[in-house]
Amino acid sequence: GPATAELVASRVLDVPDFPQPGVVFKDLMPLFGDGEVFRQVIDGIIAYHGRDSFDVVAGIEARGFVLAAAIAYATGVGVVPVRKAGKLPRAAYAASYALEYGEATLEVHQDAFTAGHRVLVVDDVLATGGTAEATLGLVEQAGGTVAGFSVLLELAFLGGRDRLAPRPVHALLTV
Ligand code: PRP
Ligand code: HPA
Repeated sequence: GPATAELVASRVLDVPDFPQPGVVFKDLMPLFGDGEVFRQVIDGIIAYHGRDSFDVVAGIEARGFVLAAAIAYATGVGVVPVRKAGKLPRAAYAASYALEYGEATLEVHQDAFTAGHRVLVVDDVLATGGTAEATLGLVEQAGGTVAGFSVLLELAFLGGRDRLAPRPVHALLTV
């Protein structure tokens, strides 16, 4: 709710010209570093979806790992990392996408999900939506069903929500 949005807003730093000139990078490290706020945002994501609405949680490298691990521990489900190319040791599905800054490939192990398991996908920031679009496709390619997608912060001017439509996006804060 609004209280959680305010909390997120109070723990974001704007970093001009990172990682390249012209980009104002939203840095959420102050949020991750505040134990009380971190717990509240994790609990907020779980409460939004309902703790019985997913069987496993997938986190997108790198900051999504931190969120996914906390949600997994709090709810007793397992965690699946969606990784940048070349990091996973066994057979993986891959999806390439364009970033706000640059290009990247994400991968997930082919056996990461039990068929039909409901997968909650989490990341820190939704920007253009390329990362999320690639990830949601990978989850389904690997046999999972997307149960929901949450981010701490949505950058609305980059249009990620429209790109992902009609898939729902849950953002604790939209700017
Ligand atoms: C950031 C962020 C999201 C993604 C959002 O990660 O954590 O994963 O970009 O951008 P998009 O919506 O335009 O695709 P980044 O690629 O910087 O990787 P990192 O977490 O490994 O630093
Ligand atoms: N912050 C964090 N991750 C991001 C951003 C940002 O401003 N833009 C695209 N991914």
